[in-house]
Amino acid sequence: MNVVVLNGSPKGELGVTLQYVRFVEKKFPQHSFRYFSIAQNIKRLEKDEAAFREVIDSVQGADAVLWSFPLYFMLVCAQYKRFIELIFERHQQTAFAGKYAASLSTSVHFFDHTAHNYIHAICDDLRMKYTGAYSAGMYDLMLKTERERWLTFVQLFFDSVSRQIPVAPVYPPLPTATFVFQTGASKAALDAGGKKILVIKDGQDEVGNINAMIKSLTGNFRTDLEVISLTDIDIKGGCLGCCKCGLDNVCDYEGKDGFIDFYNEKVKKADVVVFAGAIHDRYLSAKWKTFFDRSFFNTHMPTLIGKQIAFLIAGPLGQIPNLRQIMECYAEFQETNLAGIVTDEVESAEQIDLLLTELAGKLVFPIVAGFRPPMTFLGVGGRKIFRDEVYGMLRFVFQADHRYYKKHGLYDFPQKNYKARRMNLLMTLLTKLPFFRKQFLKKLKEEMVKPLRHVADHK
Ligand SMILES: Cc1cc2nc3c(=O)[nH]c(=O)nc-3n(C[C@H](O)[C@H](O)[C@H](O)COP(=O)(O)O)c2cc1C
Repeated sequence: MNVVVLNGSPKGELGVTLQYVRFVEKKFPQHSFRYFSIAQNIKRLEKDEAAFREVIDSVQGADAVLWSFPLYFMLVCAQYKRFIELIFERHQQTAFAGKYAASLSTSVHFFDHTAHNYIHAICDDLRMKYTGAYSAGMYDLMLKTERERWLTFVQLFFDSVSRQIPVAPVYPPLPTATFVFQTGASKAALDAGGKKILVIKDGQDEVGNINAMIKSLTGNFRTDLEVISLTDIDIKGGCLGCCKCGLDNVCDYEGKDGFIDFYNEKVKKADVVVFAGAIHDRYLSAKWKTFFDRSFFNTHMPTLIGKQIAFLIAGPLGQIPNLRQIMECYAEFQETNLAGIVTDEVESAEQIDLLLTELAGKLVFPIVAGFRPPMTFLGVGGRKIFRDEVYGMLRFVFQADHRYYKKHGLYDFPQKNYKARRMNLLMTLLTKLPFFRKQFLKKLKEEMVKPLRHVADHK
């Protein structure tokens, strides 16, 4: 069997993920593997038609394709995302159609599911036969049981290919948007109250209705808002995954391009940040992805705490709940208030204007200043993962995170809760006594609500 491995790590041969595939290659000598360092060579693949062609021709001749990538900001990295865009821009879908595919990632399991959902949806869009995702922890390969698990997955994948199993797509195709939004007269009624409002978009010539949506939103304010295009920022490239930033948040690009200054001076200093972009395949553009990946020089620390943020999206976000979840998680991780997400899907200019007027008001409404809602599973779960990783195996790499987590009380392991530990010990022992156990179960509901009732009645 010919297997094409599309390597999505900017580190190329030095990637953690690739070691999982090399391991498989050794265990299955009957199959041949062809590797392409997609993410590392993205600039070449963009410019050199022959290099791009070579990848496409190999896919065309393959029996199976393995999407192998590290998690980057809840998705694949921007460079890999760009390759996916190139497939569609250059109309090369037929090379992928009908091929069996699977995805492999390594990560710390922070939103690994959204990355695999994305690749699965892309495979469905390419009419590939996607058979499954394998999300490995970075160092799982060190463990015998995990190696066995991984080999079983691969065996199942190869078996699916050799038996040519039937596969049903999971993600229906996205509709093509045709609605053109033209905003009505601007209201200019709102006072930003001295707040710095920053709107970021990816380009001057925006795809879809983004420019009109920005015009509608900003037209609600009496003063001009700052609107910045990512294309106007000197961004030399995507995150390289070198993790130099781990020690002191100093990025390898420091002094080499304008991204870090832009992020520190504009994004961090704004009170309100509006992210505006059109859907490209199943996410925003690769340019936007570069913005998120490059912000990783702040490693695992929130940098937008207390800000109001919003997303303006042109395109069928309603049919990509995966992307909505990524946005919601971003807001929670950043400890911001997600004031709203407005899209052009309602296909009524009047409605979109109204939604954007409401959003504009929300962004500067005095009551929301500093407000952020409690985190859901997205934020709570994510924070626990980072807490454990930074405290544990990744501490020597992410020393700046460790200092921050210590200082900000993020090491909130339950082990330190001595009151709870004493109570658990006592109650566990007491519930071994039949009489106490009976009384305990009788009064459990009442006792659980008691402290809350006290607050509700007396505070
Ligand atoms: C910019 C950047 C973003 C990352 N984002 C995530 C993430 O969202 N979720 C996660 O679990 N791990 C994340 N990671 C960790 C990598 O996925 C992990 O280290 C992976 O094993 C690297 O694989 P590679 O060596 O093959 O590139 C991120 C790492 C970097 C450098």
